[in-house]
Amino acid sequence: MQQPGGNARYTASVVRRTLHRSPVAPPVVLVREVTRTLPLGDTEVHVLHGVSFEVASGEWVAITGPSGSGKSTLLGLIAGLDVPTRGRIVVDGRDITHLHERDLARLRNEHIGIVFQTFNLIPTLTAQENVEAPLYVGPKRREARARAAEMLERVGLADRRDHRPHQLSGGQQQRVAIARALVTEPALLVADEPTGNLDTTTGAQILDLFGRLRDELGVTIVVVTHDPQVAARADRILHLVDGRFASDADAYAVQVASDGGAA
Ligand SMILES: Nc1ncnc2c1ncn2[C@@H]1O[C@H](COP(=O)(O)OP(=O)(O)O)[C@@H](O)[C@H]1O
Ligand SMILES: [Mg+2]
Repeated sequence: MQQPGGNARYTASVVRRTLHRSPVAPPVVLVREVTRTLPLGDTEVHVLHGVSFEVASGEWVAITGPSGSGKSTLLGLIAGLDVPTRGRIVVDGRDITHLHERDLARLRNEHIGIVFQTFNLIPTLTAQENVEAPLYVGPKRREARARAAEMLERVGLADRRDHRPHQLSGGQQQRVAIARALVTEPALLVADEPTGNLDTTTGAQILDLFGRLRDELGVTIVVVTHDPQVAARADRILHLVDGRFASDADAYAVQVASDGGAA
């Protein structure tokens, strides 16, 4: 006999992922020849030089690379926080390349969950109220309350609903931020150095949570990190160097490179 439930759970997870990645499903993220040039005094900084990639539905991709390589800039473009100088970006079937701020804001609210290194919770609100916040423009108050409570339960914080951020540990604050990001049931979760402010054990627990939520909710995940061990948790790693992809390696190859002392 197998361990109780273990094998069935694994099989269900694989079936779900296989379905998510069926070739008929369009990619959740499509980036084509994207450049980003930022003004700097009298000159310009070329941050991204023609980056192209896709992320399949249900896939977990890590974008890694040294500090200053353009990771956060690229994530900001996928998240609709910034617009590219040239190229094309499609998220969840919507071409967001030329959207105006109002439409981008709606897209972020409805289709993209964003998690930051510093959690960015509203300090005066309880955990429950922080998670409800994205729903104020949507469902009615009572439904918002129920959905936020359900998400807090999913991230293991059912008993911390009435705590404010300063009454929570870093790991707990990041769980609240993840619940807030997913409460609108977005197709895409993006995270910029989500474990950067956490100790190794707590960071690993947050990555476990990402994996579980991907399997349970079918959400597509893009994580930016400079940490090879965090990147190794993804299905696929894209390595950014000076605004270009160096390789589209699997976790093993990048792990070997980092063990060998390379950046
Ligand atoms: N608002 C900005 N104005 C000018 N240069 C910027 C701006 N934001 C980022 N940069 C530059 O773009 C490059 C990439 O930055 P970033 O995307 O934050 O890198 P990473 O997240 O990989 O550390 C850096 O050289 C940085 O100095
Ligand atoms: Mg960064």
